[in-house]
Amino acid sequence: MKINYFVNLLFRETKFVRNFYQPTHTQKHFFRFQNILYSGEYEMQEPKSPDEIVNMVFIDKNDCKHNVRGKVGDNIMYLAHRYHIELEGACEASLACSTCHVYVCERFLNKLPEATEKEEDLLDMAPGLKSNSRLGCQITLTKELEGIELKLPKMTRNFYVDGHTPQPH
Ligand code: FES
Repeated sequence: MKINYFVNLLFRETKFVRNFYQPTHTQKHFFRFQNILYSGEYEMQEPKSPDEIVNMVFIDKNDCKHNVRGKVGDNIMYLAHRYHIELEGACEASLACSTCHVYVCERFLNKLPEATEKEEDLLDMAPGLKSNSRLGCQITLTKELEGIELKLPKMTRNFYVDGHTPQPH
């Protein structure tokens, strides 16, 4: 039981494993049996209790608001994919692009952990950079973020196919 917990934690939290480890088909089945989640799978799950729910809003490129019910621990980028919000995420949260660029509403800015140097470097390359810019894949929902609004920029760099719409995995 304890081992399962730590292995699960390793897979959820270790960037190396999340981003570079490609399990075989058989291993995938084994991990699924062991209740281990892959990137984006956690965000596809419903909250297990009302305490976990974090409501938030995405404002799309046409200024339309989309109310989304997330939960504690959700990665913003994968959550957006679940609800078909056009937030790309070309590098799958590997901190290697800026296509998950979002503007965070001012009153929530200081509730987020500070951006790392790597995130800052990538944001410097994002078109339409503002003081409230962050990378969506680096934001994890907490109860403190209840009601947060994230606006999508009009454009991002690195769209690998023009007109590509991200799909949930
Ligand atoms: S998806 Fe590439 S940095 Fe966020």
